[in-house]
Amino acid sequence: MDRIVVRGGGPLKGEIAISGAKNACLALMPATLLSDEPLTLTNAPRLSDIRTMSLLLESLGAEISTMQNGKVIAMSSHSAQNHIAKYDIVRKMRASNLVLGPLLARHGHAVVSLPGGCAIGARPMDLHVSALEAMGAQIELRDGYLHAQAPRGLRGAQIALRFASVGATENIVMAASLAKGVTVLSNAAREPEIVDLVECLRRMGAQIEGEGTDTITIQGVDRLHGATHPVIADRIETGTYMLAPAIAGGEVELIGGRMDLLGAFCEKLDACGIDVSETPKGLRVKRRNGRVDAVNVVTEVFPGFPTDLQAQIMAVMCTANGVSFLEERIFENRFMHAPELIRMGARIDVHGGVAKVTGVEKLRGAPVMATDLRASVSLILAALAAEGETVVSRVYHLDRGYERVVDKLRGVGARIERVKEDG
Ligand code: UD1
Repeated sequence: MDRIVVRGGGPLKGEIAISGAKNACLALMPATLLSDEPLTLTNAPRLSDIRTMSLLLESLGAEISTMQNGKVIAMSSHSAQNHIAKYDIVRKMRASNLVLGPLLARHGHAVVSLPGGCAIGARPMDLHVSALEAMGAQIELRDGYLHAQAPRGLRGAQIALRFASVGATENIVMAASLAKGVTVLSNAAREPEIVDLVECLRRMGAQIEGEGTDTITIQGVDRLHGATHPVIADRIETGTYMLAPAIAGGEVELIGGRMDLLGAFCEKLDACGIDVSETPKGLRVKRRNGRVDAVNVVTEVFPGFPTDLQAQIMAVMCTANGVSFLEERIFENRFMHAPELIRMGARIDVHGGVAKVTGVEKLRGAPVMATDLRASVSLILAALAAEGETVVSRVYHLDRGYERVVDKLRGVGARIERVKEDG
C-alpha cells in the first residue's frame, strides 16, 4: 500500500487547478439509468470513487467509455436491463445508493445492497426509503438488500424530509422526474451538487423547479432524452486547498474555484485571518499574518459550514492563536482525524460531538494513518506546516476523492511525494 511523505515548512506559491466535483459526478452518473439515450459528462474528476460508480453502472448493463484521459464520461443505458446492485460494489461507496431511485423509476423494480462508504456514522437510508414508499413503491429489507418495487409505476407525492439529506434529495428528484404527476419535496437539501444534478436532468427534459431552495417541485415526464453536461467545480476540493496557504503560509490561486459554492466557509476564513479574493480565473487565497486566529465552527447543511471541510479546518485550528470549538452536527463519528493530529503535537479534546482545539505554535511530523477521505487530507494539511517529516499511510482513502493531490501540492512548492510500499 502506498504512503505519502510530506516534509513540512516553507510557504506555498502558485496555482492549483480545481477538478470537477466528486459528489456531483457521483449523483450525475446514475442519471444515465433514467434514459435510453446517451448522457455525457464533461469536467469529470479522475478518482477511484468515479471508477467504482462506473463499475456499478456497468454491472447494471450500462455502457461507459471515457475520453480525454477520464475527463469525459460517455454513458448509455440503452440496453441496461439488470436491476440488482450487488453488495461487492455497493459496499465500497455509500453513493452507490443513488441508483435506487433511477432503477425503480425506469424498471419498476430494484434490488440494491445497503451501502458502505466512509466509517463516519450510521448513515441509514430511512429517508430514501420512506420517500419512495410515499411515491408508491413497496420496499423491504432482505439479506442486506433493499428489495423495491413499484408495480403500477411511481407517482408524484408530497414529501417532507425529516432532515435535508443530500442523497435522499438526489434519489427523490431522479425518481420523481419519471413519476406520474407532481412531486413536491420540502426540506430538500440545497447543496450545489443538487443544483448541478437538476440542471443536468433539465437538459435531459425533466421539469423541475426550486433547486437550491428548500422546496423542489418536480413534474414527472414520460421519458428523458440524452444530454451533455459539465460537472460543477469541486467546492470541497476548493475549500481544502484554500486551507493550504492558511496553515502553511504563502499565496495560492485556485483556478476554477468559486466563492458562491462555499457558503459560510468563506466567512470563517475571513474571521480567522485569511484573505480570499475573486480573480478572472478563480480565487486567490493568502494568510494575512503569521498565524491564523482561532474560530468556532458548527457543521450544518448548505449554506452552513460543510461537514466535509471539518477535518481540514481542525488541522488549521491546531496551529491557530487561541482555542476553538468545532461542533459536528451532521455525522456522529467524524473526529477520527483527532487522534492522528494529536500524534503530530496537536492539543485536542473531544467530548461527544464537540472538539476543543487549543492552538500550538508548531506541529511536528509523525507517522499517521488516514481513516477516511476528508480525515486523510487534513493530515496532509497539518503535515505541510509541521516540522520534519510526516508519513501518511492508507492513502487509498485520498484516491477516492482528491485527484492528483501530490502533483497539485507539488505545483505550489510543497515537499510531498508518494512512495510505493516496497519503494
Ligand atoms: C453526502 C456527501 C457527503 C457529505 C454529506 C453531508 C455525496 C456522495 N456524499 O452524503 O460527502 O458529507 O452529503 O453533506 O454526495 N441520514 C438519515 N437517513 C437517511 C439519509 C441520511 O438519517 O435516509 C442522515 C445521515 O446518517 C447523516 C445525515 O443524514 O447523519 C446526512 O446525510 P446525507 O445528507 O444523506 O449524506 P449523504 O448523501 O450520504
